[in-house]
Amino acid sequence: MSRPISAAPQDVLPILTALLQRQSQATLPFHTPGHQQGRGSSQVIQDLLGEGLSLDLTELPGLDYLAAPSGPIAEAQDLAAQTFGSDLTWFLVNGSSVGIMAALLATVGEGETVLLPRNVHQSAISGLILSGANPVFINPDWDATWGLAYPLGAEQVAQGLAAHPEAKAVFLVSPTYEGLCSPLGAIANVVHSYDIPLIVDEAHGSHLGFHPQLPPSALSQGADVVIQSSHKTLTALTQAAMLHHQGSRIHGQALSRCLNLLQTTSPSYLLLASLDAARHQIATQGQQHYDQLIGAIADCWQKLDPLGLPRLDNRLGPMDPTRLTLGTWPLGLTGFALDEWLDQQQKITAELPCLRYLTFLWGWGTTAKMLESFSEGINALMRAYPILRHDPPAAFPLNESMLPSISQPHLTPRQGFFAPQESFPLGESIGRISATSLCPYPPGIPLILPGEVITAGAIAQMEQILEAGGQITGLENHSRKTVSVVMS
Ligand SMILES: Cc1ncc(COP(=O)(O)O)c(C=O)c1O
Repeated sequence: MSRPISAAPQDVLPILTALLQRQSQATLPFHTPGHQQGRGSSQVIQDLLGEGLSLDLTELPGLDYLAAPSGPIAEAQDLAAQTFGSDLTWFLVNGSSVGIMAALLATVGEGETVLLPRNVHQSAISGLILSGANPVFINPDWDATWGLAYPLGAEQVAQGLAAHPEAKAVFLVSPTYEGLCSPLGAIANVVHSYDIPLIVDEAHGSHLGFHPQLPPSALSQGADVVIQSSHKTLTALTQAAMLHHQGSRIHGQALSRCLNLLQTTSPSYLLLASLDAARHQIATQGQQHYDQLIGAIADCWQKLDPLGLPRLDNRLGPMDPTRLTLGTWPLGLTGFALDEWLDQQQKITAELPCLRYLTFLWGWGTTAKMLESFSEGINALMRAYPILRHDPPAAFPLNESMLPSISQPHLTPRQGFFAPQESFPLGESIGRISATSLCPYPPGIPLILPGEVITAGAIAQMEQILEAGGQITGLENHSRKTVSVVMS
């Protein structure tokens, strides 16, 4: 059963305390990292990072081991487990990406079936390549006006499992990058009725459940494994993330083994200490912080709503109020063009530009004053609108469905990735099987997977994204004109 999130203040920071103790011992550092507590760092780095460099340490006496923790890391992970409501929590130093790969590797083996939505992050595809699992994709609802996919609902998962009762796990993304959440409680009931685990990519939802106006967390709704990018919506340093586990459908030891296979043996203690501090901060200040932030966001809405720009709602389940997604099509703009305009003209930088919308993230550093500047910037945009409208950027379709192809891959991602392959001009590759992921970044959701047939629709969408100023990873060279395909 799920546990409620603990609100108990846990006023200790074991990793930071251990680091400071180590620093105070002032031993001569004949060990890595080679800058030896900043003494040898280049001057620019010393000027930039100063004192902090003396804390850039890795595994040393008294500092514990990430792969076999028994000291401050174990203590900090236990505190995180209590705070987030898991049985076990692991700290990650390569983002949610490494947690997602490890969770899939620990759960579904070569040739075994896993159900997942087609619009997963590329790290889930990497997990499938590593494990050799056979993905069965479930079709998410597609919104052609916004040009985005909704998270899966319980009925879709129930249908998927009825058609594939052999599945060994279900993997979901909730919330999506735009803050849309699945009804995870109902989904967990369906998945558990097959006695298989539910893995949730909650990369964008470390903060969920810490305030009554935030959607509930995946753990509180019964998910077996949950992966969170603590660096995205909490205050951990970039790359720092957590993997949480509860119940007995997946063996904790299997998760440990897979994490140890994939994580570095030289974890940065600055990253680990930042996870500890982020856990402490949300446990002790979360309620107050989200009271203020959600209040300031409501004031901001009052100013923005009369402007008439569409903002995204979730018709399937709850939505994270700390994400704002504005539709850009009424302005005759792509999200990429609006992103650039706001960045250059208003000094406002958004999180996620897409063809038909732009998503903003309101986090721990967002102040009421910043939100005021934000609404002024959007007001300025609306004043500038006629000018932008006379000079529209690259055309983009209004109604064409742009969801990645839902057909089952020709080969598993692993078979496609490791098959003999050759370079091929992208424009001539329609009908060929891709040996790689072709992926707009952000959001990092592949249009084509290794093992999947390259379609005219996917190429057209990639061309649109590139033309609008977006990036595609997976194309082979700087001219981005060739792609690796499976040899025929
Ligand atoms: C839905 C989703 N899952 C996983 C990830 C990977 O997270 P990380 O950057 O922490 O590795 C991302 C990154 O943007 C994401 O959007």
